[in-house]
Amino acid sequence: MSFPKGFLWGTASASFQIEGAWDQDGKGESIWDRFSHTPGKIKKSCTGDVACDFYHRYAEDIRTQAELGLNASRISLSWPRIMPAGKGSINPKGIDFYKRVLDELLARNIEPWVTLYHWDLPQPLEDIGGWPNRDLANYFRDYAAICADYLGDRVGHWMVFNEPWIFTVLGYLQGAHAPGRRDIAAALRAMHVVNLAQGLGVRALREARHKPAAVGTAFSMSSVHPATGSEDDRAAATRWHRFCNLLFLDTVMKGRYPEIDTRRAPEEMFDVRAGDMEIILAPLDFIGINLYSRTVVADDKNRETLNVRQVHPETKNRTDFGWEVYPAALSEIALSIAKDYPGVPLYITENGCSYGDAPGADGRVRDERRIDFNRRYLAELWRAIQAGADVRGYFHWTLTDNFEWAEGFEQRFGLVYCDFDTQRRYVKDSGRWYSGIARSNALDFDPNEKM
Ligand code: FCB
Repeated sequence: MSFPKGFLWGTASASFQIEGAWDQDGKGESIWDRFSHTPGKIKKSCTGDVACDFYHRYAEDIRTQAELGLNASRISLSWPRIMPAGKGSINPKGIDFYKRVLDELLARNIEPWVTLYHWDLPQPLEDIGGWPNRDLANYFRDYAAICADYLGDRVGHWMVFNEPWIFTVLGYLQGAHAPGRRDIAAALRAMHVVNLAQGLGVRALREARHKPAAVGTAFSMSSVHPATGSEDDRAAATRWHRFCNLLFLDTVMKGRYPEIDTRRAPEEMFDVRAGDMEIILAPLDFIGINLYSRTVVADDKNRETLNVRQVHPETKNRTDFGWEVYPAALSEIALSIAKDYPGVPLYITENGCSYGDAPGADGRVRDERRIDFNRRYLAELWRAIQAGADVRGYFHWTLTDNFEWAEGFEQRFGLVYCDFDTQRRYVKDSGRWYSGIARSNALDFDPNEKM
Protein backbone atom coordinates (compact mmCIF):
# COMPACT_ATOMS: atom_id res chain seq x y z
CA MET A 1 0.00 0.00 0.00
CA SER A 2 1.89 3.06 -1.25
CA PHE A 3 1.10 6.51 0.07
CA PRO A 4 1.00 9.66 -2.08
CA LYS A 5 4.29 11.28 -3.02
CA GLY A 6 5.42 13.83 -0.44
CA PHE A 7 3.28 12.28 2.29
CA LEU A 8 4.32 13.46 5.76
CA TRP A 9 5.27 10.94 8.41
CA GLY A 10 5.80 12.32 11.85
CA THR A 11 5.03 12.15 15.53
CA ALA A 12 2.93 14.52 17.62
CA SER A 13 3.55 15.89 21.10
CA ALA A 14 2.43 18.63 23.48
CA SER A 15 4.49 21.05 25.57
CA PHE A 16 3.05 20.16 28.97
CA GLN A 17 3.28 16.43 28.37
CA ILE A 18 7.00 16.39 27.60
CA GLU A 19 8.86 19.57 28.52
CA GLY A 20 9.11 19.57 32.32
CA ALA A 21 11.11 22.59 33.55
CA TRP A 22 7.80 23.87 34.78
CA ASP A 23 9.18 26.87 36.66
CA GLN A 24 12.53 27.37 34.94
CA ASP A 25 13.90 30.31 33.00
CA GLY A 26 10.98 32.59 33.69
CA LYS A 27 8.11 30.28 32.76
CA GLY A 28 4.79 31.14 34.41
CA GLU A 29 2.39 28.71 36.05
CA SER A 30 -0.15 26.96 33.82
CA ILE A 31 -3.52 25.51 34.79
CA TRP A 32 -1.97 22.08 34.38
CA ASP A 33 0.80 22.94 36.86
CA ARG A 34 -1.83 24.08 39.34
CA PHE A 35 -4.10 21.08 38.66
CA SER A 36 -1.35 18.49 38.92
CA HIS A 37 -0.03 20.07 42.12
CA THR A 38 -3.51 19.72 43.64
CA PRO A 39 -3.80 16.45 45.59
CA GLY A 40 -6.20 13.89 44.16
CA LYS A 41 -6.40 15.22 40.62
CA ILE A 42 -3.83 13.01 38.89
CA LYS A 43 -3.25 9.28 39.28
CA LYS A 44 -0.47 8.54 41.77
CA SER A 45 0.00 12.31 42.27
CA CYS A 46 2.12 12.57 39.13
CA THR A 47 3.02 16.03 37.89
CA GLY A 48 4.49 17.52 34.75
CA ASP A 49 7.35 19.10 36.71
CA VAL A 50 9.94 17.00 34.88
CA ALA A 51 7.90 14.83 32.47
CA CYS A 52 10.32 13.73 29.70
CA ASP A 53 12.65 16.64 30.43
CA PHE A 54 12.33 17.62 26.78
CA TYR A 55 13.31 21.15 27.81
CA HIS A 56 16.85 19.87 28.31
CA ARG A 57 16.82 16.78 26.09
CA TYR A 58 15.15 18.10 22.95
CA ALA A 59 18.28 17.60 20.85
CA GLU A 60 18.35 13.88 21.67
CA ASP A 61 14.66 13.41 20.90
CA ILE A 62 14.90 15.30 17.63
CA ARG A 63 17.94 13.24 16.67
CA THR A 64 15.84 10.12 17.27
CA GLN A 65 13.13 11.45 14.95
CA ALA A 66 15.76 12.03 12.28
CA GLU A 67 17.22 8.55 12.79
CA LEU A 68 13.76 7.07 12.36
CA GLY A 69 13.52 8.85 9.01
CA LEU A 70 10.58 11.08 9.94
CA ASN A 71 10.02 14.19 7.85
CA ALA A 72 7.62 16.20 10.04
CA SER A 73 7.12 16.84 13.74
CA ARG A 74 4.12 18.22 15.55
CA ILE A 75 4.93 20.16 18.71
CA SER A 76 3.07 22.73 20.78
CA LEU A 77 4.13 25.98 22.42
CA SER A 78 3.59 26.66 26.08
CA TRP A 79 1.75 29.98 26.39
CA PRO A 80 3.05 30.61 29.95
CA ARG A 81 6.62 29.88 28.85
CA ILE A 82 6.29 32.61 26.22
CA MET A 83 4.04 34.99 28.20
CA PRO A 84 4.25 34.11 31.92
CA ALA A 85 1.10 36.03 32.85
CA GLY A 86 -0.74 35.18 29.63
CA LYS A 87 -0.70 38.83 28.60
CA GLY A 88 1.70 41.72 28.73
CA SER A 89 5.37 40.89 28.98
CA ILE A 90 7.20 38.31 26.91
CA ASN A 91 9.75 35.88 28.35
CA PRO A 92 12.79 36.01 26.03
CA LYS A 93 14.17 32.74 27.39
CA GLY A 94 10.93 30.99 26.43
CA ILE A 95 11.14 32.33 22.91
CA ASP A 96 14.80 31.28 22.73
CA PHE A 97 13.95 27.75 23.77
CA TYR A 98 11.45 27.35 20.93
CA LYS A 99 13.89 28.92 18.46
CA ARG A 100 16.46 26.29 19.44
CA VAL A 101 13.90 23.46 19.08
CA LEU A 102 12.74 24.71 15.69
CA ASP A 103 16.30 25.24 14.46
CA GLU A 104 17.19 21.71 15.49
CA LEU A 105 14.21 20.30 13.57
CA LEU A 106 14.98 22.39 10.49
CA ALA A 107 18.66 21.42 10.58
CA ARG A 108 17.57 17.80 10.38
CA ASN A 109 15.09 18.42 7.55
CA ILE A 110 12.09 17.78 9.74
CA GLU A 111 9.17 20.10 8.99
CA PRO A 112 7.84 21.71 12.18
CA TRP A 113 4.05 21.70 12.62
CA VAL A 114 3.28 23.91 15.55
CA THR A 115 0.19 24.09 17.77
CA LEU A 116 -0.35 27.36 19.61
CA TYR A 117 -2.47 25.89 22.38
CA HIS A 118 -2.41 22.34 23.65
CA TRP A 119 -4.21 22.99 26.93
CA ASP A 120 -1.63 24.72 29.16
CA LEU A 121 -3.44 27.99 29.81
CA PRO A 122 -1.51 30.51 31.93
CA GLN A 123 -2.97 30.29 35.46
CA PRO A 124 -3.40 34.09 35.75
CA LEU A 125 -5.90 33.91 32.88
CA GLU A 126 -7.85 31.19 34.68
CA ASP A 127 -7.80 33.44 37.75
CA ILE A 128 -9.79 36.04 35.80
CA GLY A 129 -12.37 33.44 34.73
CA GLY A 130 -10.58 31.23 32.21
CA TRP A 131 -12.03 30.40 28.81
CA PRO A 132 -15.59 31.36 29.79
CA ASN A 133 -14.35 34.96 30.01
CA ARG A 134 -14.72 36.66 26.61
CA ASP A 135 -11.55 38.72 27.19
CA LEU A 136 -9.53 35.55 26.64
CA ALA A 137 -10.30 35.60 22.92
CA ASN A 138 -8.38 38.88 22.62
CA TYR A 139 -5.53 37.76 24.85
CA PHE A 140 -5.23 34.65 22.71
CA ARG A 141 -5.11 36.75 19.56
CA ASP A 142 -2.23 38.79 21.02
CA TYR A 143 -0.40 35.60 21.99
CA ALA A 144 -0.88 34.18 18.49
CA ALA A 145 0.49 37.38 16.95
CA ILE A 146 3.57 37.22 19.20
CA CYS A 147 4.25 33.57 18.33
CA ALA A 148 3.97 34.36 14.63
CA ASP A 149 6.14 37.43 14.98
CA TYR A 150 8.99 35.74 16.84
CA LEU A 151 8.82 32.21 15.42
CA GLY A 152 6.99 32.55 12.11
CA ASP A 153 10.22 32.66 10.10
CA ARG A 154 10.79 29.09 11.21
CA VAL A 155 7.22 27.74 11.04
CA GLY A 156 5.23 27.09 7.88
CA HIS A 157 2.33 25.14 9.36
CA TRP A 158 0.37 26.29 12.37
CA MET A 159 -2.45 24.71 14.30
CA VAL A 160 -4.42 27.19 16.34
CA PHE A 161 -5.86 24.74 18.86
CA ASN A 162 -5.52 21.15 19.88
CA GLU A 163 -8.88 19.49 20.48
CA PRO A 164 -11.04 22.44 21.54
CA TRP A 165 -13.91 20.06 22.32
CA ILE A 166 -11.85 18.00 24.76
CA PHE A 167 -10.40 20.87 26.77
CA THR A 168 -13.70 22.70 27.08
CA VAL A 169 -15.73 19.58 27.95
CA LEU A 170 -13.19 17.85 30.23
CA GLY A 171 -11.94 21.09 31.75
CA TYR A 172 -15.17 23.00 32.37
CA LEU A 173 -18.01 20.45 32.21
CA GLN A 174 -16.65 17.17 33.57
CA GLY A 175 -13.78 18.53 35.65
CA ALA A 176 -11.47 15.62 34.89
CA HIS A 177 -8.91 17.93 33.28
CA ALA A 178 -7.56 21.34 34.30
CA PRO A 179 -8.96 23.66 35.51
CA GLY A 180 -11.25 20.99 36.95
CA ARG A 181 -14.54 22.88 36.88
CA ARG A 182 -18.00 21.30 36.63
CA ASP A 183 -20.31 24.00 35.38
CA ILE A 184 -22.44 23.57 32.30
CA ALA A 185 -23.03 27.27 31.77
CA ALA A 186 -19.29 27.96 32.03
CA ALA A 187 -18.54 25.12 29.60
CA LEU A 188 -20.94 26.50 26.98
CA ARG A 189 -19.47 29.98 27.35
CA ALA A 190 -15.94 28.51 27.09
CA MET A 191 -16.88 26.80 23.82
CA HIS A 192 -18.06 30.04 22.30
CA VAL A 193 -15.05 32.04 23.51
CA VAL A 194 -12.72 29.37 22.11
CA ASN A 195 -14.53 29.63 18.78
CA LEU A 196 -14.00 33.42 18.86
CA ALA A 197 -10.34 32.88 19.79
CA GLN A 198 -9.95 30.45 16.91
CA GLY A 199 -11.24 32.99 14.38
CA LEU A 200 -9.00 35.72 15.81
CA GLY A 201 -6.02 33.36 16.05
CA VAL A 202 -6.30 32.32 12.39
CA ARG A 203 -6.32 35.97 11.34
CA ALA A 204 -3.41 36.90 13.61
CA LEU A 205 -1.26 34.16 12.06
CA ARG A 206 -2.21 35.17 8.53
CA GLU A 207 -1.61 38.87 9.15
CA ALA A 208 1.87 38.32 10.60
CA ARG A 209 4.96 39.59 8.78
CA HIS A 210 6.10 36.02 8.08
CA LYS A 211 3.32 34.53 5.97
CA PRO A 212 2.47 30.99 7.00
CA ALA A 213 2.14 28.22 4.42
CA ALA A 214 -1.04 26.96 6.06
CA VAL A 215 -3.16 27.40 9.16
CA GLY A 216 -5.44 24.74 10.63
CA THR A 217 -6.58 23.23 13.91
CA ALA A 218 -6.26 19.67 15.27
CA PHE A 219 -9.79 18.50 16.12
CA SER A 220 -10.65 15.52 18.30
CA MET A 221 -12.82 13.24 16.20
CA SER A 222 -14.55 9.94 16.53
CA SER A 223 -16.67 7.98 14.12
CA VAL A 224 -20.10 7.91 15.75
CA HIS A 225 -22.18 4.74 15.38
CA PRO A 226 -25.82 4.25 16.45
CA ALA A 227 -26.29 1.41 18.98
CA THR A 228 -29.15 -0.02 16.88
CA GLY A 229 -30.68 0.69 13.49
CA SER A 230 -33.66 2.45 15.09
CA GLU A 231 -34.54 5.89 13.84
CA ASP A 232 -34.06 7.37 17.32
CA ASP A 233 -30.58 5.93 17.74
CA ARG A 234 -29.59 7.07 14.30
CA ALA A 235 -30.80 10.59 15.09
CA ALA A 236 -28.84 10.43 18.37
CA ALA A 237 -25.70 9.48 16.43
CA THR A 238 -26.17 12.46 14.12
CA ARG A 239 -26.58 14.82 17.08
CA TRP A 240 -23.47 13.42 18.74
CA HIS A 241 -21.43 13.63 15.53
CA ARG A 242 -22.34 17.29 15.14
CA PHE A 243 -21.63 18.03 18.79
CA CYS A 244 -18.32 16.28 19.23
CA ASN A 245 -16.89 16.45 15.70
CA LEU A 246 -18.25 19.67 14.20
CA LEU A 247 -18.72 22.16 17.03
CA PHE A 248 -15.44 23.95 16.32
CA LEU A 249 -15.15 22.98 12.66
CA ASP A 250 -18.47 24.02 11.08
CA THR A 251 -18.11 27.28 12.97
CA VAL A 252 -14.68 28.25 11.63
CA MET A 253 -15.36 26.90 8.12
CA LYS A 254 -18.97 27.97 7.62
CA GLY A 255 -19.58 30.66 10.22
CA ARG A 256 -22.46 28.85 11.89
CA TYR A 257 -23.03 26.42 14.71
CA PRO A 258 -24.17 22.95 13.69
CA GLU A 259 -27.71 22.09 14.80
CA ILE A 260 -27.20 19.86 17.78
CA ASP A 261 -30.05 20.46 20.17
CA THR A 262 -33.55 20.72 18.77
CA ARG A 263 -34.74 22.27 22.03
CA ARG A 264 -32.47 25.28 21.99
CA ALA A 265 -31.11 27.56 19.29
CA PRO A 266 -27.32 27.86 19.23
CA GLU A 267 -27.55 31.66 19.61
CA GLU A 268 -29.20 31.18 22.97
CA MET A 269 -27.13 28.17 24.00
CA PHE A 270 -23.80 29.89 23.35
CA ASP A 271 -24.80 33.47 24.11
CA VAL A 272 -23.88 34.56 20.58
CA ARG A 273 -23.65 38.37 20.30
CA ALA A 274 -23.91 40.60 17.24
CA GLY A 275 -20.81 40.26 15.06
CA ASP A 276 -19.54 37.08 16.76
CA MET A 277 -20.20 34.72 13.86
CA GLU A 278 -18.33 37.06 11.48
CA ILE A 279 -15.30 36.84 13.79
CA ILE A 280 -15.61 33.07 14.06
CA LEU A 281 -15.77 32.48 10.30
CA ALA A 282 -12.13 32.09 9.18
CA PRO A 283 -11.89 29.06 6.85
CA LEU A 284 -8.85 26.92 7.58
CA ASP A 285 -6.27 25.86 4.99
CA PHE A 286 -6.26 22.32 6.33
CA ILE A 287 -8.16 20.19 8.80
CA GLY A 288 -6.26 18.20 11.41
CA ILE A 289 -7.94 15.01 12.58
CA ASN A 290 -7.03 13.43 15.92
CA LEU A 291 -8.64 10.02 15.99
CA TYR A 292 -8.28 7.04 18.30
CA SER A 293 -11.52 5.09 18.19
CA ARG A 294 -15.24 5.13 17.47
CA THR A 295 -18.16 6.10 19.73
CA VAL A 296 -21.40 4.12 19.97
CA VAL A 297 -24.49 6.01 21.16
CA ALA A 298 -28.17 5.44 21.88
CA ASP A 299 -31.08 7.81 22.21
CA ASP A 300 -31.98 8.28 25.88
CA LYS A 301 -34.59 10.81 26.94
CA ASN A 302 -33.26 10.72 30.51
CA ARG A 303 -29.90 12.10 29.53
CA GLU A 304 -29.56 15.84 29.84
CA THR A 305 -26.75 16.17 27.29
CA LEU A 306 -28.54 16.00 23.93
CA ASN A 307 -30.56 12.94 25.06
CA VAL A 308 -27.59 10.79 24.15
CA ARG A 309 -26.18 7.86 26.10
CA GLN A 310 -22.82 6.33 25.30
CA VAL A 311 -22.87 2.55 24.87
CA HIS A 312 -19.76 0.47 25.46
CA PRO A 313 -19.59 -2.24 22.85
CA GLU A 314 -18.63 -5.72 23.97
CA THR A 315 -15.17 -6.37 22.68
CA LYS A 316 -11.91 -7.63 24.08
CA ASN A 317 -10.01 -5.63 21.55
CA ARG A 318 -9.10 -2.65 23.68
CA THR A 319 -5.84 -0.85 24.40
CA ASP A 320 -4.45 -0.69 27.95
CA PHE A 321 -6.38 2.59 28.32
CA GLY A 322 -9.61 0.67 27.60
CA TRP A 323 -10.17 2.44 24.28
CA GLU A 324 -11.72 0.17 21.66
CA VAL A 325 -9.46 -0.76 18.75
CA TYR A 326 -11.61 0.09 15.73
CA PRO A 327 -9.44 0.83 12.68
CA ALA A 328 -12.34 1.57 10.30
CA ALA A 329 -13.11 4.67 12.40
CA LEU A 330 -10.16 6.35 10.68
CA SER A 331 -11.37 5.79 7.13
CA GLU A 332 -14.97 6.58 8.06
CA ILE A 333 -14.05 9.96 9.53
CA ALA A 334 -11.52 10.84 6.82
CA LEU A 335 -14.12 10.14 4.13
CA SER A 336 -16.93 11.92 5.94
CA ILE A 337 -14.86 15.07 6.55
CA ALA A 338 -13.52 14.96 2.97
CA LYS A 339 -17.10 14.85 1.70
CA ASP A 340 -18.31 17.69 3.94
CA TYR A 341 -15.33 19.99 3.27
CA PRO A 342 -14.35 19.32 -0.34
CA GLY A 343 -11.07 20.79 -1.48
CA VAL A 344 -9.57 21.12 2.01
CA PRO A 345 -6.47 18.98 2.63
CA LEU A 346 -6.63 16.69 5.64
CA TYR A 347 -3.88 15.58 8.00
CA ILE A 348 -4.09 12.94 10.69
CA THR A 349 -2.60 15.08 13.45
CA GLU A 350 -2.90 12.32 16.08
CA ASN A 351 -3.54 8.59 16.18
CA GLY A 352 -2.01 5.96 18.40
CA CYS A 353 -2.53 3.59 21.28
CA SER A 354 -1.54 2.99 24.88
CA TYR A 355 0.18 -0.29 25.68
CA GLY A 356 2.37 -0.70 28.73
CA ASP A 357 5.11 -2.97 27.31
CA ALA A 358 8.46 -2.36 29.01
CA PRO A 359 12.04 -3.20 27.98
CA GLY A 360 13.13 -6.82 28.42
CA ALA A 361 16.47 -7.81 29.92
CA ASP A 362 18.03 -7.15 26.52
CA GLY A 363 16.60 -3.61 26.42
CA ARG A 364 14.20 -4.44 23.61
CA VAL A 365 10.55 -3.40 23.86
CA ARG A 366 8.50 -6.01 22.04
CA ASP A 367 5.26 -4.07 21.58
CA GLU A 368 3.61 -6.20 18.91
CA ARG A 369 0.17 -4.94 19.87
CA ARG A 370 1.14 -1.40 18.92
CA ILE A 371 2.52 -2.58 15.58
CA ASP A 372 -0.71 -4.45 14.92
CA PHE A 373 -2.79 -1.40 15.86
CA ASN A 374 -0.75 0.85 13.59
CA ARG A 375 -0.84 -1.56 10.66
CA ARG A 376 -4.62 -1.77 10.75
CA TYR A 377 -5.25 1.94 11.20
CA LEU A 378 -2.77 2.83 8.47
CA ALA A 379 -4.37 0.29 6.12
CA GLU A 380 -7.68 2.06 6.71
CA LEU A 381 -6.03 5.38 6.07
CA TRP A 382 -4.69 4.07 2.77
CA ARG A 383 -8.18 2.86 1.84
CA ALA A 384 -9.65 6.29 2.56
CA ILE A 385 -7.03 7.92 0.34
CA GLN A 386 -7.80 5.43 -2.46
CA ALA A 387 -11.48 6.29 -2.06
CA GLY A 388 -10.71 9.97 -2.61
CA ALA A 389 -9.91 11.54 0.78
CA ASP A 390 -7.11 14.08 0.31
CA VAL A 391 -5.05 13.08 3.34
CA ARG A 392 -1.49 14.39 3.11
CA GLY A 393 0.20 13.33 6.30
CA TYR A 394 0.09 11.26 9.47
CA PHE A 395 1.44 12.21 12.90
CA HIS A 396 1.67 9.31 15.29
CA TRP A 397 0.82 10.07 18.91
CA THR A 398 3.55 10.06 20.18
CA LEU A 399 7.36 9.89 20.12
CA THR A 400 8.24 9.25 23.78
CA ASP A 401 5.91 7.92 26.49
CA ASN A 402 4.86 11.03 28.40
CA PHE A 403 2.58 12.69 30.94
CA GLU A 404 -0.87 11.47 29.94
CA TRP A 405 -2.94 14.17 31.68
CA ALA A 406 -5.18 12.82 34.48
CA GLU A 407 -3.63 9.36 33.97
CA GLY A 408 -0.20 10.63 34.94
CA PHE A 409 2.51 8.31 33.62
CA GLU A 410 0.22 5.24 33.61
CA GLN A 411 -0.59 5.24 29.91
CA ARG A 412 2.29 4.76 27.50
CA PHE A 413 1.60 5.95 23.95
CA GLY A 414 5.20 6.27 22.74
CA LEU A 415 7.14 4.68 19.91
CA VAL A 416 10.03 5.23 22.31
CA TYR A 417 9.93 3.94 25.89
CA CYS A 418 10.83 6.49 28.53
CA ASP A 419 12.17 5.38 31.89
CA PHE A 420 10.95 8.30 33.99
CA ASP A 421 13.42 7.59 36.81
CA THR A 422 16.53 7.78 34.67
CA GLN A 423 15.17 9.60 31.59
CA ARG A 424 16.69 6.86 29.49
CA ARG A 425 14.94 6.26 26.17
CA TYR A 426 14.53 2.91 24.36
CA VAL A 427 13.21 2.82 20.81
CA LYS A 428 10.41 0.23 20.83
CA ASP A 429 9.94 -2.39 18.12
CA SER A 430 7.01 -0.27 16.90
CA GLY A 431 9.38 2.68 16.49
CA ARG A 432 11.63 0.69 14.18
CA TRP A 433 8.57 -0.61 12.35
CA TYR A 434 7.18 2.92 11.90
CA SER A 435 10.57 4.02 10.62
CA GLY A 436 10.28 1.43 7.86
CA ILE A 437 6.88 2.82 6.83
CA ALA A 438 8.16 6.39 6.80
CA ARG A 439 11.26 5.55 4.78
CA SER A 440 9.43 3.48 2.16
CA ASN A 441 6.26 5.62 2.20
CA ALA A 442 4.39 2.35 2.00
CA LEU A 443 2.74 -0.24 4.18
CA ASP A 444 3.16 -3.96 3.75
CA PHE A 445 -0.45 -5.10 3.97
CA ASP A 446 -2.46 -7.59 1.96
CA PRO A 447 -5.64 -5.75 0.95
CA ASN A 448 -7.53 -9.06 1.27
CA GLU A 449 -6.50 -9.49 4.87
CA LYS A 450 -9.50 -9.49 7.17
CA MET A 451 -9.58 -6.45 9.45
C1 FCB B 1 -5.43 13.37 22.82
C2 FCB B 1 -4.57 14.54 23.25
C3 FCB B 1 -3.13 14.18 23.46
C4 FCB B 1 -2.94 12.82 24.07
C5 FCB B 1 -3.78 11.78 23.38
C6 FCB B 1 -3.63 10.41 23.93
O1 FCB B 1 -6.75 13.63 23.18
O2 FCB B 1 -4.61 15.56 22.29
O3 FCB B 1 -2.53 15.22 24.20
O4 FCB B 1 -3.19 12.89 25.42
O5 FCB B 1 -5.12 12.15 23.40
